[in-house]
Amino acid sequence: MHSGDIRKQFLEFFASRGHAVVRSSSLIPDDPSVLLTTAGMQQFKKYYTSEADAHKDFGSLNTASVQKSFRTSDIDEVGDESHLTFFEMLGNFSFGGYFKKEAIQYAHGFITSVMNLPISYVTIFGGSHGVQKDEESRSIWNSLGVSDVREEGIDDVFWGPTGSSGPCGPTTEIYCRNAKGQYIEVWNIVFNEFFYPGSREELLSGSEKKLERLSTPGVDTGMGLERLAMIAQGVPTIFDTDLFNDLFDQFPSTLGEREHRIIADHARGACFLISDGVRPSNKDRGYILRKILRRLIVFEHRAGEAMNLFHSIAPLIVGKYREAYPELHLDTILLEWDKEKAKFLKTLTLGLKELQKLPTINEKAAFRLYESYGLPYEITKEIGGERAQSLTRVGFEKEFAHHQEVSRAGAEKKFGGHGLLLDTGELKAKDAAELAVVTRLHTTTHILQQALRSVLGTEVAQAGSDITAERTRFDFTFHRKMMPDEIKAVEDIINDVVRKDLPVSFLELPVEEAQRTGALYFFKEKYPDRVKVYYVGESLDSAFSKEFCGGPHVAHTGEIGPVKIVKEESCGAGTRRIRAVLLQ
Ligand code: GLY
Repeated sequence: MHSGDIRKQFLEFFASRGHAVVRSSSLIPDDPSVLLTTAGMQQFKKYYTSEADAHKDFGSLNTASVQKSFRTSDIDEVGDESHLTFFEMLGNFSFGGYFKKEAIQYAHGFITSVMNLPISYVTIFGGSHGVQKDEESRSIWNSLGVSDVREEGIDDVFWGPTGSSGPCGPTTEIYCRNAKGQYIEVWNIVFNEFFYPGSREELLSGSEKKLERLSTPGVDTGMGLERLAMIAQGVPTIFDTDLFNDLFDQFPSTLGEREHRIIADHARGACFLISDGVRPSNKDRGYILRKILRRLIVFEHRAGEAMNLFHSIAPLIVGKYREAYPELHLDTILLEWDKEKAKFLKTLTLGLKELQKLPTINEKAAFRLYESYGLPYEITKEIGGERAQSLTRVGFEKEFAHHQEVSRAGAEKKFGGHGLLLDTGELKAKDAAELAVVTRLHTTTHILQQALRSVLGTEVAQAGSDITAERTRFDFTFHRKMMPDEIKAVEDIINDVVRKDLPVSFLELPVEEAQRTGALYFFKEKYPDRVKVYYVGESLDSAFSKEFCGGPHVAHTGEIGPVKIVKEESCGAGTRRIRAVLLQ
């Protein structure tokens, strides 16, 4: 079945069962707590909570849609067989019209009768966090002849909330086999029985906030079109479906399969983001777009000067999707591409000029080119040719880590593809992508410490910190629990500093001089003769925050994006612990 037919059949199936067909909303959501639309239910959040009336707006309590969605959580996995940033989500929704029985019957009917696919097994919620095991769904599945019903936990089969709060609830998921015999999660059927007044991170970390029962339980389902097409078309990966396969003919054979998949994913995502009004920038969703565009520019560059890769595939993408998404606008897409490419090529070209001057290119030189001109390792290696013969990725990463090294006592470093790229005892990153995230969280941690001192006073001193790609954990001296309005005030200060997009810089000074700047440092620690003082602000004197530190830090606070404090708790006498996460 062609993907266009799947979209049509899906909407017809639900329209003939009393659902109003609703157009996909924009990738720019009207919910300010999320940067991009990540699920079909997002445009319907207010109907679950009875803030809006579905009957009035759609003439029905039930709706169905094919929703444009963009998730950044898997962006570094793109290139394998199954991960994507942009995807289409088929979904049916009910805001008090029907519940478990009909939702499961519809899903079963669509998969087995319309798609003619056997269901391998289904999952149900096993019960936790005060929510009971979903025996009702089990017996509905059994009554439909599906006997392999597996129980899973809150990580897998409990949806939401999206953003900073929202509807959520247990799910039941349908698994089918693909052409390679792998079991693939095809459809996620959510029973929105609850409202959670916090984020998903808070819910999972067992925050004090409690699940509240919604007055009218609702249904929210999500089925990725790409995966369904892969199974329906009997092909081994999503990239072999009609949604992608003809794009690959355009790709240069000088790049490998992984690169081809990244190009296909990112080019498609860029076309949709630009058409929905996102523009490249250093902030928020603009930063996401810039990141994928720049990656494409590097690939294009690697493929050869004459290769106008994006210009040849963007029209194919627009042609393929225009019927379903008439908002796709080729001229705007190409214009934004050209602008970003011209901008990026300036530094890329300067870096390349510098590269051409070097008689040999070792790790140190490659790192300098990266640091000063943003020249990625791959380009240096490739363009460097024979002069870069001795350059290896492991060596480059070593050099990278060496420069990011924090000179604190006890810092532990492990290198190489299998070890950690950076482990200072405070920051941990296993690859360049994680390093980018922990770098943002590291600057966040400096801002957090200063924000805590502004709100709670100078009793606050750092007692420890631990930063992973998921979150920063900051321990500090303070004698009591923080009040909710204090936490909010700290969070507001951090986000204000982020919004101001202040520069982050450092000065290397003799240690006594550094101490006289008023920068924060650990009293107990031994420092070398010269130390770096990192400061957030236009100058050291006017800085919002200054600390002894070895880096790494972002260049501008805007790169951090919105920050949320997800937990505040005791971690010993007179010591508190805060966990904060990046929302994008
Ligand atoms: N909201 C359900 C899903 O996206 O899977």
